[in-house]
Amino acid sequence: MAYNFSKTVDRTGTASVKLEQRMEMFGRADVLPMWVADMDIEVAPFIMDALTRRLNHPVLGYTIRNKQYHESIAWWQNQRFGWKVNTDWITYTPGIVAGLCHAVQAFTQPGDKVLIQTPVYHPFYTAVRQNGRELVANSLQLVDGKYRIDLDEFEKQISNGVKLFILCNPHNPVGRAWDLHELQSMAEICLAHGVTIVADEIHSDIIYQPYKHIPIASISEEIQRNTITFNSPSKTFNVAGLATAYAIIPDKVKLEQFNKQLEENGTWHGNLMGYTALSAAYTPQGELWLQELLDHLRSNIKHVKRMLTGIPNVKLIEPESTYLLWLDFRELKLSPSKLNDKLIAQAGLGLNEGKVFGVEGLGFQRMNIACSTDVVVEAMNRLKQVFT
Ligand SMILES: Cc1ncc(COP(=O)(O)O)c(C=O)c1O
Repeated sequence: MAYNFSKTVDRTGTASVKLEQRMEMFGRADVLPMWVADMDIEVAPFIMDALTRRLNHPVLGYTIRNKQYHESIAWWQNQRFGWKVNTDWITYTPGIVAGLCHAVQAFTQPGDKVLIQTPVYHPFYTAVRQNGRELVANSLQLVDGKYRIDLDEFEKQISNGVKLFILCNPHNPVGRAWDLHELQSMAEICLAHGVTIVADEIHSDIIYQPYKHIPIASISEEIQRNTITFNSPSKTFNVAGLATAYAIIPDKVKLEQFNKQLEENGTWHGNLMGYTALSAAYTPQGELWLQELLDHLRSNIKHVKRMLTGIPNVKLIEPESTYLLWLDFRELKLSPSKLNDKLIAQAGLGLNEGKVFGVEGLGFQRMNIACSTDVVVEAMNRLKQVFT
């Protein structure tokens, strides 16, 4: 391996959310931080070099998104997922959560129904509710250890006045990389009922073979025209602090509507370091780095699985994607406060409580394994100590 992903990175003093908000989140500042979805892994050296080169110029003024930036995105989408993206379809958003809010504002009216699939990344709820829209929750079904979509229920809900569907593909926190049948079925139901699709594909690069990421918009021309796709290098390359994401909107009218919303919200001009990082990341070098990162994450998952065999009442939902593992503690039959007490007070672990992602997450915890293998093993040893 050319890169060492198990190197200890001390983030103390960098105002990192994952470290600095532990007291507020867990009531103690020393839990092993395995919550917020960023990586305790160094940014790739070629990205740091590009940022440093840019910082060597003494002016950091307003900056356009140049040809290289747009072409890097189109190249990455085609190279990784075989989706041919025209650079004219690409626009900007200062982060995907901001993009979700802009999309809700641009494509729906106050009071309109917006469907999300729960449990899901919690800002999906706020993007809908804080903008005064009605939230429709399509519960994912856990069947034989795998989350599935109840397509009959989905169609019933979609046909009952929903205006917008926000898809999480791949899905955080349940780790599914939705397959072609699932994506096509949902997309066709949306087309049949005139429902626009917003696809958050931020986790699309972190996929474990044999699973693969299919951009929902890539399935057909018709679906492409009905979809707003959000993506960014922030999860894959650990640059979330640069607050730079992009939207791909092939339909001209929708693109204009979205851009108008950016203007109205005054959020169009962006972050030059984010552009620099993206252009350095979406390259053949970035792809090689990503392959090695995936090997490291797979190896961390193996350690988790091996060590879970010694903790019979805690189950791992098979991760198809993301570095966020979805652990099922329900067999322990502990109340939420008792489970928290074991994890936080006794084990000193800082995980995300499942119920944050929706009622379906009760009894689950999300564990971020994008860190050194030593930390993963330490976390598993602590789990073993309190649960066996
Ligand atoms: C599904 C999903 N969307 C969006 C985000 C955040 O994106 P951003 O930092 O670009 O707002 C996350 C971060 O965890 C996520 O998991």
